[in-house]
Amino acid sequence: MEIRSDILVIGSGIAGLSIALKAASMGRVVLITKKEKAESNTNYAQGGIATVVSSLDTFDLHIEDTLHTGVGLGHRDSVEIMIKEAPERLNELIEIGVQFTEKNGLLDLGREGGHSRNRIVHARDHTGAEIERALLHAISIHPNITLYEDHIAIDLITEHHLGEKISRDAPIHCWGAYVLDVKNNVVKKILSSFTVLASGGVGHVYLHTTNPSIATGDGVAMAYRAGALIGNMEFIQFHPTSLFNSGSPSFLISEAIRGFGGKLKTRKNEEFMLRYDSRGSLAPRDIVAQAIDIELKKSGDEHVILDLRHLDPAIVREKFPLIYKTCLEKFKIDITTEPVPVVPAAHYSCGGVVTDLLGRTKIDNLYACGEVAMTGVHGANRLASNSLLEAIVFAHRAYKDMSTKKINHVKDFPAVPEWDDSGTFDAEEWVLIEHDRKEIQQIMWDYVGIVRSDLRLDRAKRRLLLIKDEIENYYKRTKVTEGLIELRNLATVADLIIRSALQRKESRGLHYTTDYPKKNDDAWLHDTLMTCIDA
Ligand code: FAD
Ligand code: SIN
Repeated sequence: MEIRSDILVIGSGIAGLSIALKAASMGRVVLITKKEKAESNTNYAQGGIATVVSSLDTFDLHIEDTLHTGVGLGHRDSVEIMIKEAPERLNELIEIGVQFTEKNGLLDLGREGGHSRNRIVHARDHTGAEIERALLHAISIHPNITLYEDHIAIDLITEHHLGEKISRDAPIHCWGAYVLDVKNNVVKKILSSFTVLASGGVGHVYLHTTNPSIATGDGVAMAYRAGALIGNMEFIQFHPTSLFNSGSPSFLISEAIRGFGGKLKTRKNEEFMLRYDSRGSLAPRDIVAQAIDIELKKSGDEHVILDLRHLDPAIVREKFPLIYKTCLEKFKIDITTEPVPVVPAAHYSCGGVVTDLLGRTKIDNLYACGEVAMTGVHGANRLASNSLLEAIVFAHRAYKDMSTKKINHVKDFPAVPEWDDSGTFDAEEWVLIEHDRKEIQQIMWDYVGIVRSDLRLDRAKRRLLLIKDEIENYYKRTKVTEGLIELRNLATVADLIIRSALQRKESRGLHYTTDYPKKNDDAWLHDTLMTCIDA
């Protein structure tokens, strides 16, 4: 079955919805998403969007905070673009109806780790859901956009599918994607002049993550298979404060709570963060998560605590209604009167599909934006609340670039074959998929987590290789299902993370290895080596 569009957007989080809405002025947009339309990392974002809107703040301060948090690996050009274009993009969100929290007629600005000023624009503690609501509404009334839920992209369509022999250095083009319509169990061929990967993060490659179940790294894996460049995958951000034992995904306790005065303590009620960083509980996430890891190993405890008991309970309830209510009703913890048990959990991928400043990947007519992309803004560690911002700024830039190009007419597409699953069987062994998924997550958690070493990484690499081979064999023999597509992608992404981590012979930002201790002088900060994996 074939669908034709001018622009195919894969993913309905902030990046995909933003670009779909803009690109609809150019032509027909097909927007696919693998579950229900709102299900995305975006929908669970709590803290907000970092933007310079206060007279007490400057672009330069936000730029320096971002670069400093990125420990020398952030690209100054992309950081400057992101921060200077932020106010305009924020206004567009307000124009389509996003209701951010205000105080005395001005945007209320929160604080998070690594920020030297209050600059987090937010909708109480459910910013992402509010953004998703407004964007989905705008999409739903646009006549040029067709949205397909429960459609999961399997692979990008490139020369590889045309049966042509291609030399290693030949340019690669993208003409859309093969997509599984999950409800009807049929693979569709969606042809498009431009394809945008906006498929989000990779959290579920780890056992404990704040990400919803959609975050299986499909975009990175598809782009890698198609021949795009993948960069900096070793920099997986662990959020320091997910609620201990809160299931999968782990429930996030926003950093905005620490920005409001919440303190991290050991179970013996000792504040420990000042021993690691002068910013205490508000140090950037790499430092806080590593400190918590050290404290837990020292004490043998299973969690540390976040203490809000010294704060005004009425204001805590008013500012953080989602967190207060969820903790009380679902987990029976009153955060205003009881210590909150927290642990780090995988949260964000700083690396991804390498793009230029216009969202273009190495593959012609393939763009990437949002968490799936590596635009260079985050370097070795992302500054809090810079992710939603990166997504809207680079989605806009990708749209601008696309709008300068010609839309292909139907006759210009090559003869792309239908999906061929002859000779394959229906998947009967669901238990194998479930087991392999858990095994990958456990390996990554145990050996490729907050603290790494060459020994652990080598062990992870060997074990993963076996599982990956098994999965590839199974994939070739079996009709595709959502579970199998995700499993294959998880294995690919795990492999990319491990290979990138093995390439980096230093401890920097989120990549902390006992074999290469952190350096004390500043000279190394000027080394801007990026780890790259080419297909
Ligand atoms: P997503 O919002 O994750 O959307 C990806 C979309 O792609 C989904 O619709 C998914 O279903 C779809 N998809 C994936 N694979 C496929 C496929 N194969 N086929 C079809 N569709 C597919 N960042 C901030 O800046 N501020 C915050 O306050 C903040 N809080 C956060 C809180 C939580 C709990 C989490 C998990 C993250 C938070 N982040 C925050 C990070 C931020 O939310 C994400 O990085 C950002 O929302 C990513 O947006 P996106 O559009 O790139 O991806
Ligand atoms: C949070 O609210 O703590 C998450 C913010 C982010 O991931 O940027």
